[in-house]
Amino acid sequence: MELQTNVIYCGDCKDVLKKIPDESIDLVYLDPPFFSQKHYENFWIQGQGDHETVMGFSDKDWENLRHSIDPNILKEYEAIEERWKGGHKGIFVFIAYLRERLQQCERVLKPKGAIFLHCDWHASHYLKQMMDELFGYDNFRNEFVWLRKSSSASTSRISNSHDTIFYYTKSKEFTFNQQYTKYDEEYIKNTYTHKDDIGIYKLHDVVAPKGLTGGRCYYTYKGFTPKYGWLMYQEKLEELDKGNRLVWAKTGRPYRKLYLHERKGNPLNDVWTDIENVSSQGKKENLGYPTQKPEALLEGIIKIASNPTDIVLDPFCGCGTTAAAAKKLGRRFIGIDISRVACDVMKKRLGENVKVIGGESKEELSKMEPHEFARIVIVEKMGGIVSPRKSGDMGIDGWVEFKTIPVQVKRWEHKVGRPEIDKFAHAIERDRKEKGILVADDFSKDCYAEVARIEKEQKIKIELLKIDDLFFKE
Ligand SMILES: C[S@@+](CC[C@H](N)C(=O)[O-])C[C@H]1O[C@@H](n2cnc3c(N)ncnc32)[C@H](O)[C@@H]1O
Repeated sequence: MELQTNVIYCGDCKDVLKKIPDESIDLVYLDPPFFSQKHYENFWIQGQGDHETVMGFSDKDWENLRHSIDPNILKEYEAIEERWKGGHKGIFVFIAYLRERLQQCERVLKPKGAIFLHCDWHASHYLKQMMDELFGYDNFRNEFVWLRKSSSASTSRISNSHDTIFYYTKSKEFTFNQQYTKYDEEYIKNTYTHKDDIGIYKLHDVVAPKGLTGGRCYYTYKGFTPKYGWLMYQEKLEELDKGNRLVWAKTGRPYRKLYLHERKGNPLNDVWTDIENVSSQGKKENLGYPTQKPEALLEGIIKIASNPTDIVLDPFCGCGTTAAAAKKLGRRFIGIDISRVACDVMKKRLGENVKVIGGESKEELSKMEPHEFARIVIVEKMGGIVSPRKSGDMGIDGWVEFKTIPVQVKRWEHKVGRPEIDKFAHAIERDRKEKGILVADDFSKDCYAEVARIEKEQKIKIELLKIDDLFFKE
């Protein structure tokens, strides 16, 4: 496959990654399911133009996926399972599932590339070991702790408030940009206590302290000879003096001025406490997508391990936070998500010139949950809105034309018969409308006669629309 960037692929990342050439990606960030044992259901998501859509995905029932995993990978984990005390509820299936996908991530990374794996306590310790196996213990760089929320009381344990992000590089030579955080106001107030025409500054030693091992220089400057030497060569001290960067104490001892505006801040450390979760009230970027991460978090990661125009890949990209941050920072991006809803949300978030590839073949459509399929038909293909109820609103799955025309979408490969036309006519009547659209794979012959009869006798117009015509006809 030719490598396209600034695209979203709809599909299982295992399959999509296999098509990406070896050593073509600079940075991978992934935020896969966490083995949280949760079903994320019925979330209202913004970003669908002037309306919202409902979606769900599961991070439970990993056991059901056992059959889908490469037996060679699974057998290693099954050996561990045999001597396991229990209570894992499919954790090794989850680890093997991710391993299949992380192997592909390792393959597509450039030799100087890096990967950030986002997880939490549910599986982080198992994932660290697996990452060591795949990327090498020595290529582990950091374990970041992101304080996701403030603590809350529990009767059985201390609050789980942080996520973990493992940072590995593919080799010993890698792109790395040190980052800095702002000094806090209190520190500035207490430390940067001097001011001149150039700005606010603090005083810093140029004289070596007692006990310093190495690095000291001995000379006399402007009549001052420090007992334990200087911290710099004489040329450097002279340069500072010429630039009016020295302050002289009454004792004749000089100090260096360090200006606040010239300082980068504190070097970033591995505990991140100042990035608010998107679910915090009032966050503009909150799209309502379950598990959405803040753009600031992704911006930090992207800056550490990539440069402008580099390619950033997120194989579990949800509502597209990584892609949005990459775009903002002038990187190219590739996003992958198995959920068609996620891909459509991303398309809206990232702008119309971002292409969504895949997710609409007959095979993919046939595997969709009925409510997801109905959403694609009504929202994506017909520009309408879906009913808030997952099971349909008494026979109505959504509406088009400013909610004036009800739509019903039948499940895949179902041939509609006459009684279903009658039921839909009732639903249209109940909704006090005069027209409805029924979308299905096929219609029996007597449907058309029934539609004509209903129009004549009940003055209700029903349009019969075939899935093939909607999706596969030019
Ligand atoms: C934790 S969410 C990612 C959230 C994302 N970081 C964001 O900020 O929006 C995990 C995503 O992985 C997707 N997913 C689950 N299994 C997948 C697979 N095998 N391939 C691709 N995407 C998958 C889900 O649809 C979900 O959107």
